[in-house]
Amino acid sequence: MTATQDLGSFYDESYRRAAADGDRHLRWRQLSARGKADHAIELCARAGLSPKSVAEIGCGDGAVLAELGARGLAGELHGFEVSEEAARIARDRGAPGLAGVTVFDGAQLPVADDAFDLALLSHVLEHVPDPAALLREAARVSRAVVLEVPLEANLSARRASKRSESAEVGHLQALDRTAVGAMVSAAGLRVEEELLDPLPLEVHTFFAPTGAARARATAKAAVRRALFSVSPRLAERAFTLHYACLCR
Ligand SMILES: C[S@@+](CC[C@H](N)C(=O)[O-])C[C@H]1O[C@@H](n2cnc3c(N)ncnc32)[C@H](O)[C@@H]1O
Repeated sequence: MTATQDLGSFYDESYRRAAADGDRHLRWRQLSARGKADHAIELCARAGLSPKSVAEIGCGDGAVLAELGARGLAGELHGFEVSEEAARIARDRGAPGLAGVTVFDGAQLPVADDAFDLALLSHVLEHVPDPAALLREAARVSRAVVLEVPLEANLSARRASKRSESAEVGHLQALDRTAVGAMVSAAGLRVEEELLDPLPLEVHTFFAPTGAARARATAKAAVRRALFSVSPRLAERAFTLHYACLCR
């Protein structure tokens, strides 16, 4: 993001660029949303939580809301976004139980305390200058919070090419679990359930354009899964895992 760009217009532009990629972008968003919904649903099940209302803060184009609605996580879904363009796409996409998508300033949600049973922050906190403050705001409006972030404080993500890819999509934080733990405590919350995901093969191979690239991506995914199954801690230091937790 440049100094002259505001938050909303930075993400408006990136959602317009993504839409120009057409069907491939749509399939990628659906694939990613399935994994994110799996995590939220698994964490709620483990915590014995059956939310009636869910607010996704930073819902983007609504792919995760659509997946959660289709899978019946809650009867009532609400989206909040900083990008007008993303909010428009999310409304057009729709979702079973979607009550609305509201544009907000990225800091204060225009709703009362404890308005929702669950707030979801999926791949948002790494985009925010003060993640603990947004997490605190999520905790104000809901009785429980599920957050998911990529853990990018690792050897692979430290490479210059990876750092510039992350910056291009708006990542301001390269987190590890210690940093997430500190942000959860600073928001006055406690982690109740958590999980790590080295990501499925389809995710690793999605952007491979040729047979050879697909073979390389398949081998890389196998090595990563093998290291993860031996030592999740070592895997976390070597490459990017997705981390999700349910906090109250
Ligand atoms: C990687 S997308 C994630 C979208 C969706 N939650 C998902 O997991 O597919 C990050 C989203 O965070 C939004 N965002 C950035 N800063 C934000 C803030 N301060 N508050 C809420 N959303 C924010 C962006 O507009 C963008 O839609």
